Amino acid sequence: MNRQPKITLRPLSAALGVEVLGVDLRASLGRATAEVLSAALDEHTILLFRDQDLSESDQLRLADAFGGPSLRSRPVHKRAEDNPYAEKIGLVTNIRKDGKPIGSLPDGELWFHHDGSFIDLPYRATILYAVEVPEIGGHTLFANMYQAYDDLSDDLKQQLGGLICLNIFDHQTTAGPADPDQDLSAVRHARHPAVVRHPNNGRAALYVSPLLTARIEGLPRQESDRLLAELFKYTSNEKIIYEHVWRPGDLVIWDNWGSTHARTDFPADQTRLLRRSIVKGQALEAAV
Ligand code: OGA
Ligand code: MN
Repeated sequence: MNRQPKITLRPLSAALGVEVLGVDLRASLGRATAEVLSAALDEHTILLFRDQDLSESDQLRLADAFGGPSLRSRPVHKRAEDNPYAEKIGLVTNIRKDGKPIGSLPDGELWFHHDGSFIDLPYRATILYAVEVPEIGGHTLFANMYQAYDDLSDDLKQQLGGLICLNIFDHQTTAGPADPDQDLSAVRHARHPAVVRHPNNGRAALYVSPLLTARIEGLPRQESDRLLAELFKYTSNEKIIYEHVWRPGDLVIWDNWGSTHARTDFPADQTRLLRRSIVKGQALEAAV
């Protein structure tokens, strides 16, 4: 007997993303549904599930369905030691205990970035589940990096052939990338092609971001800065962006190889609490 629920995908915007209807994430997905959703993620880049009432173990099971969670990677997460999920589910929140944030990325605006571009095997996806959201702001913007690449002039596309970028994570959220000429041994960093080929769907995606991409290797500093500034005009083009306005119970999973994301500002006196898990990734090859 086939009791597979009918899954419907509804576009979220002209740019990217679909809402998934007909799936209750509290139940184990089953192989067929997991495959449908994994393919939908490769095709649409952002999946939104609304009105989900999920435990931490439900969230981890979902990460498993997409290829398994990476271990928590952010040193700033502080979760109760007796919480069995503390290793794999982090909090993105401005809640503070004794004046210190209990999670990561607590406050305000966040510039566009790919999660994991500063490690050698960038995460395939990030899963964010909204528990409490501010009344105003704190929206997450998602940008379609296939489209950003397609939109480049032929001349720019040609300039990117074979180029490799240095990406640095230095805990900033809006101040732009770290100084590429510093001693890199103290900061997490990795080099990836400026244009990557998505491992699952084969499409070319621009792989630079204003928050994390510090330099194009092999170019004089000024030339690198100039070219990156030119590329960032394409990566922040409104027409390639979907703006997600969170509701409690929203679960969003996004593909970090084909998209970047950012966050809008929100009032410091309003609580924002989301649970975050990541799906492990792999090395990215150049598309051009
Ligand atoms: C993240 C992130 C955005 C947000 O968790 O990696 O960028 O809206 N979050 O909090
Ligand atoms: Mn992020």
